[in-house]
Amino acid sequence: MRTLNAPERLRRVDRSNMLGVLDGYVDAFLSSFRRASHARLAAPAGLANVVVAGMGGSGIGGNLLAGLIQAECPVPISVLKDYTVPGAVGPKTLVLAVSYSGNTEETLAVAKEGVARGATLVGIASGGQLQRLARERGRHLPVPEGFQPRAALPQLFGTLLGAAHALRLTALAPDARLEDELRSFHATVAPTAGDRANPAKKTARALKDRFPVYYGAGLLAPVALRGRCQLNENAKMLARNDELPEANHNELVAWAAVPDPRRYFMSLLRQRDEPPEVGRRFDFVMRTLERRRVPHGTFTAEATSELGRVLQGLLFVDYVSVYAALLRGVDPTPVEVITDLKQALARPARRVASRRS
Ligand code: PA5
Repeated sequence: MRTLNAPERLRRVDRSNMLGVLDGYVDAFLSSFRRASHARLAAPAGLANVVVAGMGGSGIGGNLLAGLIQAECPVPISVLKDYTVPGAVGPKTLVLAVSYSGNTEETLAVAKEGVARGATLVGIASGGQLQRLARERGRHLPVPEGFQPRAALPQLFGTLLGAAHALRLTALAPDARLEDELRSFHATVAPTAGDRANPAKKTARALKDRFPVYYGAGLLAPVALRGRCQLNENAKMLARNDELPEANHNELVAWAAVPDPRRYFMSLLRQRDEPPEVGRRFDFVMRTLERRRVPHGTFTAEATSELGRVLQGLLFVDYVSVYAALLRGVDPTPVEVITDLKQALARPARRVASRRS
């Protein structure tokens, strides 16, 4: 597909209407935040730590939350993406478990083990076993059914941030200015913004036949991770992400000597008011890429608040991934192999259960 400006042609590839889902991003985030921030939630007495458990499209909200609130949150927050629960989880732990389907093994394992150790559970799910567990043994915050998990990020992340607000882990909340800034930014990356003025379309074109890499720093490091995961799942492309300053201490060496540099496209995710020490590192990386002639581009989130900049970054990388999919003639919605994996994992567990019964 050569054009991203012909709605008819886009619809033929985007059969399940991922672009239509992206259209509701800002409203979905704001309404989910509002609903969850008014929920009656209580952290355990003497709260000692917070654990956010979730995988893939549901788990990324944990990285975003931790990045945004860890400086102000009175206790440590860890993000768990595995079956294993750290020793520090106990009766003074708050477990925020996020699974869109409510049936993801790793997330359920953490939620169940947390409850067994006396932790307080808040489960965010559209249904499934997590919904049941959270209703019986904690609090359940619903998200609407009918989406691909990763496409429900505005609902999942809005609910997670709203819950953190209700639990007094953060004072962070969207305001009218953030809403204005987000809506105007959304218009610049939406399908109605033509190719030349649309940074997401331009980036998608530049990376669609290359190996894309996202770099972010601080608050935008989880956005770089989201960008990579969205290219994996929506565009079905291999991609990677890394973060500064750490990547300056290892991957920089590989970029300075990279063979076949035109195979890659590096997208640097930067932000207004970036700390000068981080800015100098980005500038150095850019000079290294230029010297080696590695194709690259910079996206700068300009919103006045940190939350606004994170949300602008998310909108940017999400649109890039869907445009890249459409340019490659790929329907962004289905992720059959993940469904196959989950079915394959469920099969032996059922056999063991029936042998026991
Ligand atoms: O986007 C996806 O479909 C995946 O990354 C899922 O989010 C992941 O497999 C976890 O599933 P769930 O979000 O239902 O817990």
